[in-house]
Amino acid sequence: MDALRSVFSSTAATSAENKMASNVLITGANRGIGLEMVRQMVEDKGRVKKLFACCRDPNGPKTEALQDLAKKHPDIIIIVTMDVIDLESIKEAAKVVGLKVGEEGLNLLVNNAGIGLEGDLQETTNKQMLDSFETNVLGPMNVIKEFLPLLRVAAKASKISGMSCNKAAVVNMSTYEASMDVTKYTYSEAAVVPFRVSKAALNMVAVCASEELKKEKILVTLMNPGWVRTDTGGEHAEIDVNVSVKGILKVMGTMGEKQTGMFLDYQGKTQPW
Ligand SMILES: NC(=O)c1ccc[n+]([C@@H]2O[C@H](COP(=O)([O-])OP(=O)(O)OC[C@H]3O[C@@H](n4cnc5c(N)ncnc54)[C@H](OP(=O)(O)O)[C@@H]3O)[C@@H](O)[C@H]2O)c1
Repeated sequence: MDALRSVFSSTAATSAENKMASNVLITGANRGIGLEMVRQMVEDKGRVKKLFACCRDPNGPKTEALQDLAKKHPDIIIIVTMDVIDLESIKEAAKVVGLKVGEEGLNLLVNNAGIGLEGDLQETTNKQMLDSFETNVLGPMNVIKEFLPLLRVAAKASKISGMSCNKAAVVNMSTYEASMDVTKYTYSEAAVVPFRVSKAALNMVAVCASEELKKEKILVTLMNPGWVRTDTGGEHAEIDVNVSVKGILKVMGTMGEKQTGMFLDYQGKTQPW
């Protein structure tokens, strides 16, 4: 808790500012961490004005839980088709969202969609590496680029000083396994080369974006959700998805200028590069 307080010091937006309703977009929102984020955000009444829950197959069997949630909160949740490896689909989604948010813009973009391909260096194929880069690196990078005009509108329209997830922000879902330091101690337990390498590249994309966008007061961060019981994390993972998301939302709620370009976990701890 002390560590959390020291990370989130004076330049963080005030709690009142962070309680303001905002327009939010989440990729990969039909299951796992993305779906739980949608669930917890809509349950926190008055927190989100419009929630664009993106998924690649809105009418498919893996989207039923999201469809049910959207039926319960028709004023807030808008399901949007987006496949992050298809640039045309990202552009189309940006058009749809742009028409809905208008002059308010998009306050928070959560780059959550990702794949976790496993394998050590010797067994990993070029295809697995390219697929991982396409989804985990080019996907979030193109999403940032295509939604940037809407984030800019929100940054200009906002009355919040400094930076905040309620003003204009991009949160990218990374992993502890992307850390070079951590890999020395965890590789023998989990080789997952395509996952580690692509998420390490995502970390660099996010740091570059944070540098490029800081003058426009658009916050860009990376988060490690922990080892979470989802399809990616597996049933033996350490924490339940609701614990991870509760933590992520709490940390996001306290982010300010100091956190741009940072890599934090769901408890607010700074992660090693
Ligand atoms: N769970 C963990 O322990 C853990 C640890 C570290 C980092 N993470 C990261 O946290 C994020 C969420 O993970 P999770 O555990 O919730 O995984 P998950 O349950 O496997 O869900 C992954 C989500 O990403 C979506 N997705 C994958 N490729 C996509 C594409 N091309 N376009 C659009 N959506 C796509 C999936 O959609 P479909 O249903 O259509 O496949 C699904 O909604 C990921 O970035 C993951 O790498 C998770």
